[in-house]
Order: sequence, then structure tokens, then C-alpha cells
Amino acid sequence: MTFLRNQGWDPRAYSDNARFVSDLGAPVLELLAPRAGERVLDLGCGDGALTVKLVDSGCAVVAVDASPEMVAAARARGVEARVIDGRALGFESEFDAVFSNAALHWMKPLDDVIAGVWRALRPGGRFVGECGGDGNVETIQTALKAGLRNRGLDPDTLNPWHFPSAEEFRHHLESRGFIVETVTLFPRPTPLPGDILGWLKTFAKIFMDALPAAERPEFLEEVAQQCRAKLRDADGNWIADYVRLRFCAIKSPSAA
Ligand code: BEZ
Repeated sequence: MTFLRNQGWDPRAYSDNARFVSDLGAPVLELLAPRAGERVLDLGCGDGALTVKLVDSGCAVVAVDASPEMVAAARARGVEARVIDGRALGFESEFDAVFSNAALHWMKPLDDVIAGVWRALRPGGRFVGECGGDGNVETIQTALKAGLRNRGLDPDTLNPWHFPSAEEFRHHLESRGFIVETVTLFPRPTPLPGDILGWLKTFAKIFMDALPAAERPEFLEEVAQQCRAKLRDADGNWIADYVRLRFCAIKSPSAA
């Protein structure tokens, strides 16, 4: 089964409910340490908010995303963005770095993505990024899956996400020949700008769309109810149980 961010995206809802995704990307940019004049591929650029920061660092950036809506939003920021499936990158030894924030967990199978990143990098180039890792949004996933099962659907065939462990991700990178500098998995409880319904409508559309429209409101309420005890604090703020996988890997300078 392969998926690639194949839910419809609404850049406006994304901006309202998911601005934290790029706001919290600063440490990943720091790990990349972009240098002026470098040529960088932004893989899974979303609406281009972080791509702009790469451009501001003086890099020549090509941004790609599988979502035409997101690519249009990135272009509106003046970014060179293209609609490209992360499993089918057609670049050859032309980037000093490939950067990816909060996108790889939508791309399956990972080996196809990593092979394309490898081809896109020049020897000595680096692959730096962050995505959801093992245990990411576990409470939300559990509630979504239970809700679908209760309605006779198999959540595993619908689930668009894969959250690898550090060991698994390292294995994928090393199998392709990357020299792994760091792979770390860490919890990052993430305050949401609104309630969990906004998050679900923005990020879990694939689960919702599996149901007839008339059943969706009740499904969402049920999922929210299940998450409430673990993810809502005493003041009514929602804090999602994010776990991040952050990495830096190098294509050997002597690689062909
Ligand atoms: C994440 O960035 O971890 C994420 C985003 C959307 C859905 C699931 C996970």
C-alpha cells in the first residue's frame, strides 16, 4: 500500500490550524545550517513557510510537494515550487542538501523516497529533516482507529501515516548508503492553536472521508471525547502528543 499526502489540503485551514508546523521547524533549519549559495531541495514543502526561510538564507531552493493546493500556496509566497511525488524524485546529483520538515511520515514506502533523495544529492551532500516518529499522535491515532473499527472499517488500510522508530529510519538510510550523523526520537508535546477538532479536520481528513458525510460530525465528537482526558489540560488547552524523529545523514563524498 502506498500513500503520499493524498488527502485534499486547504491552505487556509492549514494556516489557521497548523501554523505551528513551520513555527516549530526552526531547530531543523538550524541542524541544516544552510549556507548562502547552496542549492537545496525542500521535500514536502507544504505552503512554503519554511522554504522562504531557506531562500532568505541565500540558498537556491527548489520546493516540491505532492499537493497541488500546497504548491500553489508556496508559489504565492514567491517560491519555486513543483508538484512532485516524493517517491518519484527525478533529480540527479544536483543538490547540496535535501531538507524535509513534517512531511516524510506521509510518504510510503520510505525506501523509494530515500533512494530519490540519494540520487538528488551531489556526493558529500546532506539529508536533514524531521518527521513524526514512533509513538507520534498515539492518543489521536488510537481514537481514530477505534472510531473506524466501531463503524465496520479497517483503519490500517486507510492510515496514511508511518511513524518510524530511530532504528528503522537509520536502517533505511544506511541501506541506501548514507552515513548517518544523527537520528534522534523525542517527545514534543505540541499546544494546538484551537481544539482537537481543528487538528482532525486539517490532518485526519482521510479517516473522516472514509465515512458518509452524515456520520462525520458524530465520529469527530467521539474521537475528541476519547482524546480529552489525555490531551486537554485543566485550562481547556489541547496539547497533542507529538513525537519527533530528527536526523542528519550524508551521501559519502566518494559515492558514485
Ligand atoms: C506530524 O507532523 O507529526 C503529523 C502531522 C499530521 C498528521 C500526523 C502527524
